Amino acid sequence: MERSLTLELVRVTEAAALASARWMGKGKKNEADHAATSAMRAVFDTVPMSGTVVIGEGEMDEAPMLYIGEKLGGGGVLVDVAVDPLEGTNIVAKGLWNALSVVAVADQGNLLHAPDMYMDKIAVGPEGVGVVDIDAPVKDNLYNLAKALNKDVTDLTAVILDRPRHAKIIHEIREAGARIKLISDGDVAAAINTAFTDTGVDILFGIGGAPEGVLAAVALKCLGGEIQGRLLPQNNEEYERCKKMGLADPKMVLRMDDLVKGDDAIFSATGVTDGELLQGVRFHGLEATTHSVVMRARTGTVRFIEGKHKLSRKPHLVME
Ligand code: FBP
Repeated sequence: MERSLTLELVRVTEAAALASARWMGKGKKNEADHAATSAMRAVFDTVPMSGTVVIGEGEMDEAPMLYIGEKLGGGGVLVDVAVDPLEGTNIVAKGLWNALSVVAVADQGNLLHAPDMYMDKIAVGPEGVGVVDIDAPVKDNLYNLAKALNKDVTDLTAVILDRPRHAKIIHEIREAGARIKLISDGDVAAAINTAFTDTGVDILFGIGGAPEGVLAAVALKCLGGEIQGRLLPQNNEEYERCKKMGLADPKMVLRMDDLVKGDDAIFSATGVTDGELLQGVRFHGLEATTHSVVMRARTGTVRFIEGKHKLSRKPHLVME
């Protein structure tokens, strides 16, 4: 992949963040998502690549744009594209924390075509690689991670989606003595945050979306961290879908190389609302500021980019 693609992908997530951030706090998650999707779709036309959406807004008959199988880009290197124009639709609707616009790109055939179903996940930053195991007891994972981070387990912070399905695991984390950050939505940001000490987040546990698991895997591959996942098909149809994807055992543990193959991939995220890692979009009259992170797996380079946007020259992003 061309190195110049990295900046192109920042333009893609910036546009989606700018468009959806206008909807912050308005209680309209679908409108926010639609704004992000249309803006992202439009910018993709200008990106020099020949992409195919493998993780997107839905199947062709469900989504008008950025659907699975849709071809993107203005021509160039053949790539798989994973998008989440607005990761955290409810977050934006309510003006809460950590909504992101997200894109990941890898050489064709290298991203797991994760179906829209649940995935059990565990994610850690670089120091936690090789010391946690999705099948190990929660307590063991926390103690092993604490040791690797040279901390007491009581100083660890685990992040988990605030859902009734997580009652048991939350109890086990509390029993082990670690601190917990319960989040309303947005486990991609939570997984990425484990790789940045300043975010105060050490480990992600719990069940979230499978597509989000693949997006987080690309980011953690760039950052030297790790996510392990297990698909959780809820019925026969979902089970068969996993088999169609080529997973002989749909319940196998998916490791980094199963989620994203090869040594190269690019990940870009722009903050829509404020988070531990990225500030959300700020509007100042006809100007706006965005904060993005873009990274590449082959080189491990991580760039934080502050964008200053003249909205007077981007009229499609100015909401009436
Ligand atoms: P959306 O942006 O599609 O609303 O997803 C947000 C999210 O919180 C993800 O971060 C997470 O993986 C998933 O939803 C959790 O699903 P559920 O809300 O069904 O628990």
